[in-house]
Amino acid sequence: MSGFVAGMVPAAGRTRRAVHHTAFHRTYAVVLTPKGTSVATRKPFVGGNWKMNTNRTTGSDLARAVSDGLVNLDGLDAAVFPPFPYLLTIRSILRDRGASIRLGSQDVYHQQDGAFTGEVSIAMLKDCGVQSVLVGHSERRHVMGEKDELINKKLRALLDAGLEAVLCVGETQEEREAGHQEIVNARQVRTALAEIPAPYTDRLIVAYEPVWAIGTGMTATPQDAQEMHAMIRGLLARLYSQASADRVRIIYGGSVKPDNAAELFSQTDIDGGLIGGASLKSADFVAICKAAAETAGAKP
Ligand code: 13P
Repeated sequence: MSGFVAGMVPAAGRTRRAVHHTAFHRTYAVVLTPKGTSVATRKPFVGGNWKMNTNRTTGSDLARAVSDGLVNLDGLDAAVFPPFPYLLTIRSILRDRGASIRLGSQDVYHQQDGAFTGEVSIAMLKDCGVQSVLVGHSERRHVMGEKDELINKKLRALLDAGLEAVLCVGETQEEREAGHQEIVNARQVRTALAEIPAPYTDRLIVAYEPVWAIGTGMTATPQDAQEMHAMIRGLLARLYSQASADRVRIIYGGSVKPDNAAELFSQTDIDGGLIGGASLKSADFVAICKAAAETAGAKP
C-alpha cells in the first residue's frame, strides 16, 4: 500500500562494516547492500511517558526500580518522561544510581522567557538536567489543541538548543477508517520539520503513535506499523537524504506491552517504542526495554 520503501532492503547478501559516528553519542553500524547503498542499524530508543501520573513517592520508587532493572542493559537508549514537578527529584535518583537513563520532559514552550503563564522554557528544562523532550504528543494535539505550526516552533527551538526531540505523529481512528493515515502522518512530519536543517536530524526521533492505539489496548499490527514507519523514513529521505533518514530512530507507541514488544521492535523500521501505561510498571517497562535491546541485536 505504501509507495515508500526506503530503508527496507532484503537481508540476504548484505555485508556489514562497522562505522562509528560521533553524532549525539550514538554508534551506528552501516550495512552495505549489494548495490552499495547503505542502511544504518540504529540503536533502539525506549521512552517511558508517565503522562499526568505518579506523585513524588510513587515516581521516585518507579525511577529507582527502572534504574535497577536496566543496570546492566547495553544496546539501547532508555528515557523516562516524568511530570514537570518531579524532574529534579527523578534526576537525583538517576544520578545517585549511576543510571544511563535519559531524563525527558513531556512538553516545552518555544519562547525564551517572559509572560507565558504556565509554560516551561528550554532553558528551564536544561537547568533541570533534561536531555530529551516530547513534541506534539497526541494528547497535546487532541486534548490541548496544539497545531502543526506550534509543534514546528517547539521542535525548531529544541533542536536549535541542542536537545534531543521526540516528534510524535499519528492518525485518529476516523482518519484511518477513511484511509487517510499516510496523508495525515506525512503532513504532520513535513510541517513539523519545516525550516529544520539536515544536521539537526541527528537529534531527532520520530514516534509514530496512532491515536486509536493509545491507551486502548488496540495495538497496531507489526505490519501496519512497519508500513507507516517505512513511509516516514521514505519521506525523511526525500526531505533530507537517505543517509539522514537511515540515522533517525522511528519508534512506535500505542499499547506496547511486554507481550507484543518484541514482534513490533523486530520490524525493519521500528527502532523502539514510546510507552505510556506499561511504563508505570517497572517490571513491564524493563521487559520492554530488554525486548528492544534483544531484537535490535538480532536484526539482520
Ligand atoms: P499507551 O502505551 O498507554 O498506549 O500510551 C502510549 C503513549 O501515548 C506514549 O506516549
